[in-house]
Amino acid sequence: MFYRPTWAEVDLDSIAYNIKQMQQELSPGINMFAVVKANGYGHGAVEVARTALNAGANALAVALLEEAVELRQAGIDVTILVMGWVQPEDTEVAANYDITLTFFQKVWIQALPTQLFSKKLKLHMKWDTGMGRIGIRSKEELQSVITAVKSAKNIDLTGLYTHFATADQAELTYFNEQQNRFNDLLAEFNKIWDSSVVIHIGNSAASIRFPSEMHQYIRFGIAMYGLYPSSDIRAMNKINLKPAFSLFSRLIHVKKIDENEAISYGGTYVTEESEWIGTIPIGYADGWTRKLQGMDVLIEGKRMPVVGRICMDQTMIRLDREYPLGTKVTLIGKSGNDKIEMDEIANFIDTINYEIPCMISSRVPRVYIK
Ligand SMILES: Cc1ncc(COP(=O)(O)O)c(C=O)c1O
Repeated sequence: MFYRPTWAEVDLDSIAYNIKQMQQELSPGINMFAVVKANGYGHGAVEVARTALNAGANALAVALLEEAVELRQAGIDVTILVMGWVQPEDTEVAANYDITLTFFQKVWIQALPTQLFSKKLKLHMKWDTGMGRIGIRSKEELQSVITAVKSAKNIDLTGLYTHFATADQAELTYFNEQQNRFNDLLAEFNKIWDSSVVIHIGNSAASIRFPSEMHQYIRFGIAMYGLYPSSDIRAMNKINLKPAFSLFSRLIHVKKIDENEAISYGGTYVTEESEWIGTIPIGYADGWTRKLQGMDVLIEGKRMPVVGRICMDQTMIRLDREYPLGTKVTLIGKSGNDKIEMDEIANFIDTINYEIPCMISSRVPRVYIK
């Protein structure tokens, strides 16, 4: 239920389609974590998770413990991996909800309140092979962490993984270096650990490029939402993806104004002639950032520019003629024979497509279509 005519549409069939496209390429036996952190990259975590699991994903990955708890509370019972660092004092929550956590520090293992755990806490160990963010980097570190794991009670090491920093770039030197470091650590690990664990290394980019080299799982994020991890990956034409997210509004005011009239704060836009100007109820509080001044929107397949500063809740566009109140305006997605892709918006504001759906705020209702 929403009263303002501004909404995002999330096409769940596209998400299922993208998962199937990826699965067709993966070697048999390679499973999939659907990555639904950050509210499913802004698409809606619970809805995307359910769709992904129905489409064949095997497990879920998130960044925060609270994101994992949200999925459990929605009744989802598959493996959920938290990929970020969780405070040791909060790990009881994870154990009780059977949520798998990421670890990489000896002091963290030693600080676990294991006596409080109602079930064994499942853990995946993170290796930093070149991302430089979190993870074990050396064999010595690995040995001392494994020693701590062996002496801790109530925990279960079920997996290990790493993350690539440059899998989306055509040039593979650094990617190969990360693989080498991973294999060195793995050789050491196999010497000091004898139970089986699942291994996963690939994000969307690595999975699309090397679908037979992904060990037991992939962590499938951006491509599940129908977005290519980079222009390099897109140009490789290895997978067909359908974007799931569209953003719409409607004209709530239409007026003809004289030549030489200013529009919006600061008067940064002044009409060159008599012009039709439309107002749509979306602004930077919706994540429609001020940097999008000058970007196009679509009406009936035609492009119209955003003119003047974007306000907190409203944006003005220059129309090519008069349109009736309530006319649909497409900010992201298809309209007639044209479309505005996330990539175009990302390029316009000098960022990556990942950021665009994440930045559309929770004030914009997500409507799910199938
Ligand atoms: C550790 C980890 N794995 C997997 C992913 C998914 O990556 P992508 O969205 O490029 O598929 C992310 C996303 O940032 C991540 O941080």
